[in-house]
Amino acid sequence: MAKRLLITGAEGQLGKAIQFQFAEKYELLATARKPSSAAKKKRNVISLDIANRSTVNSILGEFKPHIIINCAAYTNVDGCEIQKDKAHDVNVNGLRNLIQFSEKDACIVQISSDYVFNGKDGPYAETDHTFPVNYYGKTKLEAENLLRGAQRKHLIFRGNVLFSEDLFCKSNFFAWVYTSLLKNKPIAVVDDQVSNPTLISEFVKAIFQAMVMKCEGVFHVGSEDFLSRYEFALNIAKNFKMDTSLISPVSTAQLAKNIPNYVAERPKHSGLKTTKIEKNANLTVQSTEYNLKRLKRLL
Ligand SMILES: NC(=O)c1ccc[n+]([C@@H]2O[C@H](COP(=O)([O-])OP(=O)(O)OC[C@H]3O[C@@H](n4cnc5c(N)ncnc54)[C@H](OP(=O)(O)O)[C@@H]3O)[C@@H](O)[C@H]2O)c1
Repeated sequence: MAKRLLITGAEGQLGKAIQFQFAEKYELLATARKPSSAAKKKRNVISLDIANRSTVNSILGEFKPHIIINCAAYTNVDGCEIQKDKAHDVNVNGLRNLIQFSEKDACIVQISSDYVFNGKDGPYAETDHTFPVNYYGKTKLEAENLLRGAQRKHLIFRGNVLFSEDLFCKSNFFAWVYTSLLKNKPIAVVDDQVSNPTLISEFVKAIFQAMVMKCEGVFHVGSEDFLSRYEFALNIAKNFKMDTSLISPVSTAQLAKNIPNYVAERPKHSGLKTTKIEKNANLTVQSTEYNLKRLKRLL
């Protein structure tokens, strides 16, 4: 009998991809805060606000998932700085509700971020010291700690700069660059924030393989190479034969002066070392260049 798997945030970039990839292997219930009518009809997504205790109680009580993959989050980094209560409610209390109202032997898979680190001396291994520099990062770390302390079977996956062919997704850096260049819109991109972007399909594969291989604990997933967002944007333009002159470099400090709501501090020299997931889940991470070529075949 297939295991029952509940996905939260299934209208988001990662949640959608997980639903698509896991559908045949599990008895799956996809949930989202406000599913669109297309998602309700075509993907059977039902409504679940993870911050609403009574709804979480009734849906989990009825479905009794063996596994929960929590992709739901308030992911707007500046929004989290401004609306701290909302950020805490979704990113921390939402997970607390999932823990509290699920069966004690259910496995909880939490999606986290490189923003748990301060970005002074990345790339980081899973064992490195965490020290978030903004409120979004603080909520992601608090959620991790909550899960670690809950004495439940769990997996925590940290990704950075998630990207995919989903061009309608606000949290997809690739989509912002690609659609801006498509419209010949000039963009200023920070050249002092370094990471190793996580391709969504690789993230989904890592999560699946780690689950199948019964791994537990924290895992980092990203690409092989480390680059600034500016360099990433240039790579996108070159790979998709778009106009690189539309992209100009800007420092984080300058961007904060230019955009009034760019208020959250960012980890600068970040990135995630991936040796652990490669070893434990039999995965080979690829370069950003290679991953962009894979996306090109899909667009
Ligand atoms: N995107 C990145 O670059 C990045 C990097 C590192 C880690 N992560 C982590 O990866 C995970 C997935 O991110 P993503 O890129 O897929 O982000 P996303 O596209 O913003 O998806 C997050 C989803 O969560 C939903 N959500 C928000 N509040 C909710 C609530 N109270 N109940 C249920 N759902 C709620 C959002 O719905 P609404 O839009 O309707 O609110 C959205 O569909 C998150 O945990 C994020 O922190 C993301």
